[in-house]
Amino acid sequence: MKILGIESTAHTLGVGIVSEEEILANQRSMFEPDEGGIHPRKAAEHHYQHALEILNNALQEADLEAGELDGIAFSQGPGIPQCLDVGAVMARSLALRYDLELIGVNHCLAHISIGKRTTRAENPTTLYVSGGNSQIIELRSGRYRIIGETLDIALGNALDKLAREMDYPHPGGPEIEKLAEKTDEIIDISYPIKGMDFSFSGLVTECERKIGKKDDKIIANSFQEHSYSAVVEALERAMAQENSDEALLTGGVAINSRLREMVEKMCEQRDAEAYFPPSEYCMDNGTMIAHQGMIELKADIETDVESSGKKPNWRPDEVEVEWIKED
Ligand code: ATP
Ligand code: FE2
Repeated sequence: MKILGIESTAHTLGVGIVSEEEILANQRSMFEPDEGGIHPRKAAEHHYQHALEILNNALQEADLEAGELDGIAFSQGPGIPQCLDVGAVMARSLALRYDLELIGVNHCLAHISIGKRTTRAENPTTLYVSGGNSQIIELRSGRYRIIGETLDIALGNALDKLAREMDYPHPGGPEIEKLAEKTDEIIDISYPIKGMDFSFSGLVTECERKIGKKDDKIIANSFQEHSYSAVVEALERAMAQENSDEALLTGGVAINSRLREMVEKMCEQRDAEAYFPPSEYCMDNGTMIAHQGMIELKADIETDVESSGKKPNWRPDEVEVEWIKED
């Protein structure tokens, strides 16, 4: 079976193609704002402008014609409404034109599924940290339950905001990482955890107040140490509660080497295994959407054109996971 997947929830337009055996293509174009955060209309315009090019590049990479595909999957939500429309329109057009199955998939679940495919994780507790989402997710009784999450903004968004205030370009996560690597010094700021939930807004404000008074490197390092410790502590609690011996890290922030190091160390101490997908499958990508579409189509789950509208607030725990048989 060959499935093409389209990702367009936020700043990335991605098209990927998978079969059961292989990842056949992974193409993307990223919207980079000149200033400030993601402007919904400008991001959507970027996606429309690059739609044909990225689609053709993916088909070329896979050496396939669209008519040879079995299905078209797309990110139906959650995400920025204007951006979601682009993927949905592309997917519906392709499915109707070539008479292919249409599968609208949940973006968060696709992050987990590609994480499992590209590592050996079987039933992990997932820490999903990106620009728009920060959640701890576990499969329980037929649904991926969110057992911990941010109470305000996502971790990636917090990194982007702090970097912007310090005059570094978007995306901020890699900039903060580069700065933090240059020092071991940290300043005392709050430690934002409440049970298995965490929050980052206050931490960003605290750090912003130090700009100009403390070296950028120290601010960056302090932010990383405090925020990453909080999410890793929440992950550990979640694993202890579920007696889980696998942790999976995904989302754009999962690329961060300090965060990976902390998760690795925590898992070592618990005699658990830590799984890190390759960077290109941590950040938003079309391949994860294609893979999620494939496993759903194999379980006879598909989407009619009538019910293929965008779902900007679609939480992963709203989806009945019919494609995995639990013990
Ligand atoms: P989602 O739609 O799942 O919320 P997203 O639109 O935020 O995803 P991703 O590509 O998953 O897209 O994540 C982007 C985020 O990852 C940005 O906030 C960026 O700063 C952050 N990021 C990227 N690289 C790093 C890094 N090395 N360290 C920390 N954060 C990083
Ligand atoms: Fe994502």
